[in-house]
Amino acid sequence: MGVTIQAHGGQVQWLEKEGKWYWYGEDKTKGYRSNGISAYSSKDLYNWTFEGYVMRTISNREQLDSDPYFSELYKDYNKKEKDNVYLCFNDSNAVIERPKMIYNKKTGKYVLWFHADGPTVESPNSNYAAAAAGVAISDSPNGPFKFLGRYRLNVCPAADKKGEWYESSAGFARDMNLWIDDDGTAYIIYSSEENRTMFISKLNDEYTYLATDVDKAVKGKDFVRLFPGAQREAPALFKYNKKYYMITSSATGWDPNQAKYWVADDILGEWTDMGDPCIGDTDKKTFYTQSTNVINVDKESGKFIYMGDRWKSNNLGDSRYIWLPLEFDSKGKLLIKPYTNWKLEELNNKYSVQLNSELKDIYTGVEELPKTLNIKVYEDGKWINKDTTVKWNIPELTPMAKTTVTGVLEVVDRQINVNVINIPKNLQYYVDCGAKKDSTTYDLANGKVQLKNGIRHIQMALGDILGK
Ligand code: GAL
Repeated sequence: MGVTIQAHGGQVQWLEKEGKWYWYGEDKTKGYRSNGISAYSSKDLYNWTFEGYVMRTISNREQLDSDPYFSELYKDYNKKEKDNVYLCFNDSNAVIERPKMIYNKKTGKYVLWFHADGPTVESPNSNYAAAAAGVAISDSPNGPFKFLGRYRLNVCPAADKKGEWYESSAGFARDMNLWIDDDGTAYIIYSSEENRTMFISKLNDEYTYLATDVDKAVKGKDFVRLFPGAQREAPALFKYNKKYYMITSSATGWDPNQAKYWVADDILGEWTDMGDPCIGDTDKKTFYTQSTNVINVDKESGKFIYMGDRWKSNNLGDSRYIWLPLEFDSKGKLLIKPYTNWKLEELNNKYSVQLNSELKDIYTGVEELPKTLNIKVYEDGKWINKDTTVKWNIPELTPMAKTTVTGVLEVVDRQINVNVINIPKNLQYYVDCGAKKDSTTYDLANGKVQLKNGIRHIQMALGDILGK
């Protein structure tokens, strides 16, 4: 047993140049007030080495001139600029949350963004008055990261100023994440307008500010404003099989709540609400976690890990990390299930599996169930056709009732469900066409089955059973 990792609200990614996984997060040793941004590295995602504080917080203003770590880093900053570094990074009232780092291939710089908050002159007692996104850069993934500034970001376009729109909190940026798309364009994703909307904004080529200034930014080209009134936080974005997925939490502070995810074909386009991805989450609290990031273990093969924080509000530094495999069903729908003590091999068969063979809506007897099926599997960035045997798990079937039967596609170890109505072979129907009351069908093998009165109702009842 080692030392507890302090990297909350974090992000894990593979850094090619280092040949290692890097985990950035909030050090909460001192509780709510930031003890800086920490980094850990790993070769295998299991064993982690502390790389140090990549960005330290500051205890007093003098430190910026007297402590060599800071005086060297900010040697070209004037007094006013250093005052701003202190305001945004002092350990007595600055709030530094959800740090995320992206490497810029063009500039060779490591760029760290975070939720930069704390009091302002107008609201000296508020922890969340600044509502800004902070940015810092470094030549090394281990820092030291140099603080460039904290900014309010994009605002609601004039045409959308109706319904859920919040003038007083325009440009707010709180819970956030970053995304680099396949073409190298980077985006910041953040809760805005007092957490009532989510924005995705394009970053400039250096990844250090918006691509287009706020007053010139165009919706759909430079940014998109999403989910007005939905109150979503903690965005975690990833891309699989040409679709963007965004997992979010609701806004209930340190208390867990129900996750929801959205899907889009275009990152700055329409996002579709797909609901809660969790399966078997009885209390509807995302297995008592809040999303922070999705790890791309092998995105081409559909291997992703959901990273959640299990906050302990009365002892934040003792909060835990819950990682779960992401799984995709045959329609690309996302599923998160409550695995315990799972190994990375568990990710092997979570990719999207599609059926090439057609399944019937209803099978009228288990002997009809197919023994093999042809499937399409998204592996290593392409679709591959495969045959698979199906192992059906057949429960006891009630005659004439619709039952869901589960099968396992053995080649990929994935489950499918079909509907079976057990219609006994020697079933014969006798219908009293003139009956005013209920008629009866007689199943010679299993006894009688009661149906509603008259032939019309028998047709309806059978139609209902057969799902027509
Ligand atoms: C959560 C947010 C955390 C932190 C917390 C403070 O909603 O996701 O990052 O800001 O509120 O209460």
